Amino acid sequence: MTGRFVTIEGGEGGGKSTFILGLGLALSQKGIQFQATREPGGTPGAEEIRSLLLKGSVKRWDRMSETLLLFAARRDLIVNFIRPALKQGQWVLCDRFVDSTIAYQGGGGGLDVGFIKNLYDVISEGLKPDLTFLLDIDPALGLARATHRLATTQNEEGRFEQMPLSFHQKIRQSFLDMAHENPDRYCLIDATLPPQDILQLAMEHLEKKGWL
Ligand code: TMP
Repeated sequence: MTGRFVTIEGGEGGGKSTFILGLGLALSQKGIQFQATREPGGTPGAEEIRSLLLKGSVKRWDRMSETLLLFAARRDLIVNFIRPALKQGQWVLCDRFVDSTIAYQGGGGGLDVGFIKNLYDVISEGLKPDLTFLLDIDPALGLARATHRLATTQNEEGRFEQMPLSFHQKIRQSFLDMAHENPDRYCLIDATLPPQDILQLAMEHLEKKGWL
């Protein structure tokens, strides 16, 4: 039996990390084995690439270089982490995946979305998320939350948070478009709800799919 590949997407400050912690706990209570990971990152090599991408000045990379770095990290994560875990029958909960590239580098950054999808087809060996939770939040609110968190934790990974509000608004729209285009795969959740309500909606969705 292969596991389920679940991705969690959304703009900045939507509470993905808290959600994944809660979801993991709830799945464990149902006896489901899972591995949680993130993009960019999740393997030693991909975590090094994460640092290159998320630290430093906004202008450090142009959109194409950014995209190629993301895909190098993604390939490493798929081959060395996601595929092996799914093969063992474990679920994989992935904080961001290729839809983030479509939204950030494509929708926000203006890179051709067809190019991003083609590149994904080449490197992914047919892997597709079985389900995507989209934690949707107004970017003005999400960015304020994210910037506060970065400052209070002295986290230097703020390269994308420094990009303008208009960029983040396009990202939000791009995610919402993907959710509407893929209603079978996407579960859209209002990220301003209390964390326990978000978790409950997610578990009800899994229940309805017959996965629990
Ligand atoms: P996060 O782990 O806090 O969400 O930070 C990851 C950052 O990387 C976030 O600002 C979005 C950005 N990102 C992209 O721009 N494109 C991508 O494909 C991925 C996976 C992340």
